[in-house]
Amino acid sequence: MQYFSISEIKEWDRFYRSNFINSLQGFKPVSLIGTVSEKGIPNLAIFSNIVHIGADPALIGFINRPIEAAPHTIQNIELTGEYTINHIQTSFVAAAHQTSAKYQADQNEFLETGLNTFFIENLKAPFVAESDIKYGLELVEIVPITHNNTFLVIGSIKHVLLKEGLIQKDGFIDANKAQTLTSLGLDGYYSTEPIARFEYAKPGKELKK
Ligand SMILES: Cc1cc2nc3c(=O)[nH]c(=O)nc-3n(C[C@H](O)[C@H](O)[C@H](O)COP(=O)(O)O)c2cc1C
Repeated sequence: MQYFSISEIKEWDRFYRSNFINSLQGFKPVSLIGTVSEKGIPNLAIFSNIVHIGADPALIGFINRPIEAAPHTIQNIELTGEYTINHIQTSFVAAAHQTSAKYQADQNEFLETGLNTFFIENLKAPFVAESDIKYGLELVEIVPITHNNTFLVIGSIKHVLLKEGLIQKDGFIDANKAQTLTSLGLDGYYSTEPIARFEYAKPGKELKK
């Protein structure tokens, strides 16, 4: 095994270190977060630090960088209280990655990247029309992480939009069938291959698939 201490890692070139640390955690969910500004301009940005907070109430969190680094999504969410999270498929992965560019607040990333907006009643925030798994959220809480000036943005799921045929008999959403991508680091994207689904594990009981 190769061993690295944090004091050694700290000595590395900034970009090398960033790639190393960002990919250490492994594969992550990656999605596009859609918001709308106070002036009504749609905003879209890619996020991979997305985490399930709880099923009932249905809560999802994501980590937002310090405001200077990623200002628009979090500001729009604070102002409007609403946002959408949209899975990414191979067909539009380049456009999805392009949303990470530092566009101005008055630039509409949907127009800039060629992705299309999709709106539903009762939600101001735009969905990504091309995405086959997407959901709309209402802001619950923004928790500042003072150690590095980032934020945990927590939202409750209010609306879910799925392409037909993705829900299995037991409610499991087949993201693999939807060809949802996963990400590694800040620039690697991967498709998935199913390995297994297991029944609920209990001590001393042999697992069945
Ligand atoms: C694959 C990938 C994942 C990213 N994940 C996050 C993330 O979880 N949190 C974050 O704040 N920025 C993340 N970014 C950077 C944002 O996409 C970028 O800062 C974007 O410009 C923010 O836009 P905004 O100012 O409209 O919010 C990621 C970028 C890439 C390419």
